[in-house]
Amino acid sequence: MSNQDKIKQLIDLRNEAKLGGGQKRIDSQHKKGKLTARERIEMFLDEGSFEEFDMFMTHRCSNFGLEKTKFLGDGVVTGHGTVDGRVVYVFAQDFTVFGGSLSETFAQKICKIMDMAMSVGAPVIGINDSGGARIQEGVTSLAGYAEIFQRNIMASGVIPQISAIFGPCAGGAVYSPALTDFIMMTEQNSYMFVTGPKVVKTVTGEDISTDDLGGGKMHASQSGVSHFLVENEEEGILLLRKLLSYLPQNNLEEPPIGDNSDPIDRLEDALNEIIPDNPNQPYDVKDVIHSIADYGEFLEIHRNYAKNIIVGFARFDGRPVGIVANQPNYLAGVLDVEASKKAARFVRFCDCFNVPVVTLVDVPGFMPGSQQERGGIITNGAKLLFAYGECTVPKITITLRKSYGGAHDVMSCKQLRGDLNYAWPSAEIAVMGAAGAVEVLQGRKLAAIEDADERAKKVQELEGEYRDKFANPYQAAAYGYIDDVIEPRNTRFRIIRGLQSLSTKKVVNPPKKHTNIPL
Ligand code: HXC
Repeated sequence: MSNQDKIKQLIDLRNEAKLGGGQKRIDSQHKKGKLTARERIEMFLDEGSFEEFDMFMTHRCSNFGLEKTKFLGDGVVTGHGTVDGRVVYVFAQDFTVFGGSLSETFAQKICKIMDMAMSVGAPVIGINDSGGARIQEGVTSLAGYAEIFQRNIMASGVIPQISAIFGPCAGGAVYSPALTDFIMMTEQNSYMFVTGPKVVKTVTGEDISTDDLGGGKMHASQSGVSHFLVENEEEGILLLRKLLSYLPQNNLEEPPIGDNSDPIDRLEDALNEIIPDNPNQPYDVKDVIHSIADYGEFLEIHRNYAKNIIVGFARFDGRPVGIVANQPNYLAGVLDVEASKKAARFVRFCDCFNVPVVTLVDVPGFMPGSQQERGGIITNGAKLLFAYGECTVPKITITLRKSYGGAHDVMSCKQLRGDLNYAWPSAEIAVMGAAGAVEVLQGRKLAAIEDADERAKKVQELEGEYRDKFANPYQAAAYGYIDDVIEPRNTRFRIIRGLQSLSTKKVVNPPKKHTNIPL
């Protein structure tokens, strides 16, 4: 064969590999409204930046006559490229080849790019679309998954790992995305479950659709498995790029500082009006976030899950931060099991990757009741407490209104090493709300008042007294637990100044193998 023929052979092989499982299966993928693995990668990476690895690898299985069917690349496209000029490693499972099922070879390809990403310190993005373990391969496929899991675990907290689920992801296969930092799902075509509807029906008798059992909407709103729910793959891919813009390449780097022309001293007069005089009236804390962040931009995570707490990324003078905010608009912003878990995981993510945390507090306390106690509000609330307490990145806390009881302590208070703790004049920092306090302290005396009107008048008077004493930030400020009481409209400037002053913060926790966070 001449050299020219050899070059032609290479081009032919490349073209063959690029066709994955063939045009018919590609058409069928498109008919379902799905892109192919290569189309997804092309759309995700900067144009022309993709460098593919292992295009010529094939499986080595000869069970059930499989040796007669081989596809170049074996069902997963792997390599690296750039997003906004920064290196990322990527794999995309190719459903057109054996339903994207995972073989030993397939796993080796993924492991190779994970190892390379770890050695250079770059994020790994995995696009999942797979029927799970390749059934013909048996145990080598299971071992392949375990090889990936182990790498996910070692990479955790070292490089960002993000999973997009753009097709099926079932059985033990779900655990690789579950070990990564963020999971994205689409509204249609995307599902994750440990066992599918047929097995569920056989084992438990429950009749349930694929979507109800493990669809994107369910996981984004009920289980919390999915952090982002997108309408379609195109929207998802753009969101992946945006998410990366807030993150450093690895745990030894700072998050990238973006250009900013939004004035740092922009006064937001509307914030002076946002807190209603009636303490029981809600408002939308997202209005506060949008008013103070650069250009009003906020990338919300877990938007549909545990809506009583808001978490996500924003920038202040170009510097990425994680925002955690109680949401008075939903369940009065109370802390419950889900909200605690959601915020704890987010705070820990920020801490891993040097992203400062800004906390906006308006919390009436922990959700009371048997349901919460049985659901383990003690252990789960402790997760958030633990996360804030061990966190060493800069922490700025602004108390907007209520900050009551245990929830006050949990929400990044001074003694949990809050670096800057500010309060608005509307802040109320106390052991509990006025009604509860009066009931505990004066309940017996009040019960003895027979006339209902007289009793109500007395309750009002006592609650008023209690509020005058505690429903303000000045008691906490007198002890130095609040560093300053600030005008709401000046919040953006104070946060930016704070972040500037804390940019060289160095706090190191005592050496240990690892903590024992109450999981
Ligand atoms: C081998 C598979 C496969 C698999 C699909 N295919 N899944 N081949 N191993 N796991 C093949 C099909 O034979 C078919 O080949 C092609 O992929 C497309 O599959 P279809 O069934 O035609 O597609 P669709 O109707 O869209 O259904 C998709 C599906 C279904 C829902 C994913 O294929 C399915 O139920 N697959 C099995 C899922 C499963 O039970 N996997 C094991 C889970 S347990 P042809 O040649 O006809 O195109 C597991 C353990 C992991 O993964 C443990 C880790 C610790």
